[in-house]
Amino acid sequence: MKKILDACCGSKMFWFDKSNPDVLFADNRRENHILCDGRYLEVNPDVIMDFTDMPIDDEVFNLVVFDPPHLIKLGKNSWMAKKYGVLPDNWPRIIHDGFNECMRVLKPDGILIFKWNEHQVSIKDVLKAINKQPLFGHRSGRQSKTIWMAFMK
Ligand SMILES: C[S@@+](CC[C@H](N)C(=O)[O-])C[C@H]1O[C@@H](n2cnc3c(N)ncnc32)[C@H](O)[C@@H]1O
Repeated sequence: MKKILDACCGSKMFWFDKSNPDVLFADNRRENHILCDGRYLEVNPDVIMDFTDMPIDDEVFNLVVFDPPHLIKLGKNSWMAKKYGVLPDNWPRIIHDGFNECMRVLKPDGILIFKWNEHQVSIKDVLKAINKQPLFGHRSGRQSKTIWMAFMK
């Protein structure tokens, strides 16, 4: 049984080992593209699933990683949309339900790592949507809009 879930792995950019056997890689799409700069983008998860309604039993994983799309205003065919996905207008509900599903499939005391980028939506609004506070968090760089947060079940 896998110990770690990446609930929306995309092209696995932040993974050092993109074939780590301990990880179940999930996303709601399987596709590949040549981006505008010529780079190849492959989204090839182990399972296709919707993070708001996971076909997974309760309390399975020790660690869950949740890096959902963070952009709302974006052309559906833009390279950013291909790389990161796009959130629908009802994004607070989607993020709320996705977060709750990540918590449900975690074992007691399991850890959820939640990554967000504040380019269009503030972290304050995201925490309001999930109605939870992280244990701690950190911005990737001094001026960065990317925040990594840790929660424990
Ligand atoms: C920010 S990207 C993830 C990037 C990834 N962490 C990486 O390192 O490359 C967000 C991903 O969430 C996926 N996604 C969007 N809505 C989803 C849903 N409802 N269920 C599962 N995956 C979803 C998108 O297809 C996209 O690949």
